[in-house]
Amino acid sequence: MRAFHVSPADVRVAVSPYRICPLGAHVDHQLGVVTGLALNQAVLLAFAPSPDSHRKEVAALSKNYPGKVSFELDSIPPFRPGDWGNYLRGAALALRDRFGKRLSRGMMAMVDGDLPIGGLSSSAAVGVAYLLGLEAVNGLSVSIADNIHFDRTIENVYIGLRNGILDQSVILAAERDQLLSLDCQSETWHSVHGPAADSFQVLVVYSGFEQALVSTGYNQRVAECREAAKQLLNAAGQRMANGAVLRQVSEETFVEHGSTLPATLRKRATHFFTEQARVRDGAAAWASANVKQFGNLVVQSGKSSVENYECGSPPLITLYELLVGSPGVLGARFSGAGFRGNCIALVEHSRAEAIAVAVAEGYARRHPTEAKNFSACVCDTDDGARLL
Ligand code: GLA
Repeated sequence: MRAFHVSPADVRVAVSPYRICPLGAHVDHQLGVVTGLALNQAVLLAFAPSPDSHRKEVAALSKNYPGKVSFELDSIPPFRPGDWGNYLRGAALALRDRFGKRLSRGMMAMVDGDLPIGGLSSSAAVGVAYLLGLEAVNGLSVSIADNIHFDRTIENVYIGLRNGILDQSVILAAERDQLLSLDCQSETWHSVHGPAADSFQVLVVYSGFEQALVSTGYNQRVAECREAAKQLLNAAGQRMANGAVLRQVSEETFVEHGSTLPATLRKRATHFFTEQARVRDGAAAWASANVKQFGNLVVQSGKSSVENYECGSPPLITLYELLVGSPGVLGARFSGAGFRGNCIALVEHSRAEAIAVAVAEGYARRHPTEAKNFSACVCDTDDGARLL
């Protein structure tokens, strides 16, 4: 923060954790029910109010990306493809739209994230960190529900990714050692007490395979799910509201009319309905501390992501298979959208390191190029985003 000439006494830190979604993959944008855990690895944002109280400059440096982002709150520049400053500009825009002139104080910030990108919601974590920083320097008190909405504005409106509210909700609302259960339709959540903290750890393995989510098949899958919903509602003679989503379709309608869907759309809908059943069963398994049964459902969820949602790239599918075949792994799947980045596994405490070593060896044999960037990190769960 020395580069910004702010007084060290004015510097605060926002901790915005990475998240995983063990069950409830690819259903948030269809307003399904999802689960999540926050990890004890986080994006950190050191920030301070702009030195002069009349200055509206927002400026940031990143430990992960080159260059300085800088703009005035009165004239927030539009989205720039591929620019890491988009999340900061989007955060300022979301807050300015709600708070107008009450968002008048600039911010100097330095951001740092350690885990490799892809599936852990580093984007939402960074967006949430910027929101918390800008709110703090402007003395704005904002609820979790409103921050979920603001982060959604960053991603859906400013960036143009048609994702749901899973990522930022888990990042903001998760509680250590508890499973967050989130209904993306009612936008309500609760924490589920489950297995003892020492009954598992989360192993995050990075494939070395990267691409921007907005340039993957993510938005196309969302459109396919919506089309499946529309066709199912039509087949059932139900009036179709604009922008149908699969949550509006009953399971009975899917059972009765699913066979009329074209093969691709049938697969997407099959993923949605089977995943919702896994979320229900998984929450019950978690509540009765049955981590083994919970883990089995996570494995099935990963399989459905490959076979029905068709979103895994070859390196990620290999990692998934290696993890599932490793003794000590309770459950595994790709993390997040599954087109790039990381896989996660719930693993027995004492075996995490050994599993990481074995998976690294198997991966290097099958994907020597990507394996050069392979990494593994053993995590525990943590609370949601907060200011220190
Ligand atoms: C990404 C998106 C989320 C969600 C997951 C898949 O992380 O940002 O909204 O759709 O993929 O569950």
